[in-house]
Amino acid sequence: MQEKYAQYHALIEGETDSIALMANTSAFIMETMSRLNWAGFYILRDTDLVLGPFQGKPACYRIALGKGVCGYCVSHQKSIIVPDVHAFPGHIACDAASRSEMVVPVLRGSILYGVIDLDSAEYNRFTDEDRLFIEQIAQIFAEKLVV
Ligand code: SME
Repeated sequence: MQEKYAQYHALIEGETDSIALMANTSAFIMETMSRLNWAGFYILRDTDLVLGPFQGKPACYRIALGKGVCGYCVSHQKSIIVPDVHAFPGHIACDAASRSEMVVPVLRGSILYGVIDLDSAEYNRFTDEDRLFIEQIAQIFAEKLVV
């Protein structure tokens, strides 16, 4: 795992543009984790989460706060693993193939920047180990944000 973090550090060092960093972070996650069909960012803008750089099928542009798995993550400011998206009230289906999902907040100190959202076509895809991995990636990414 330490090697993955080192790879990620190496990937993002030397760049400060947030769009470019999110684009390569999405690609890194997609390449590093197996069995994903979507990996990317939603960025908090006023009262909506707005689609950011991602890998996967086209997705909804905006998610109102409190809506969907992503909105739940923002409201509670903590990571959420949904083993079966069909059992999650209010889940927003961007790709009909998705069966499980994990959303991790991107926090710069106490300020919420957005979320990293991962989908899988497998039920029960995400483990606590995955959650810790993406939380660490989110923290490394957030430290690069220019405030
Ligand atoms: N399923 C998410 C919406 C975003 S897509 O999965 C990319 C949700 O319920 O918030």
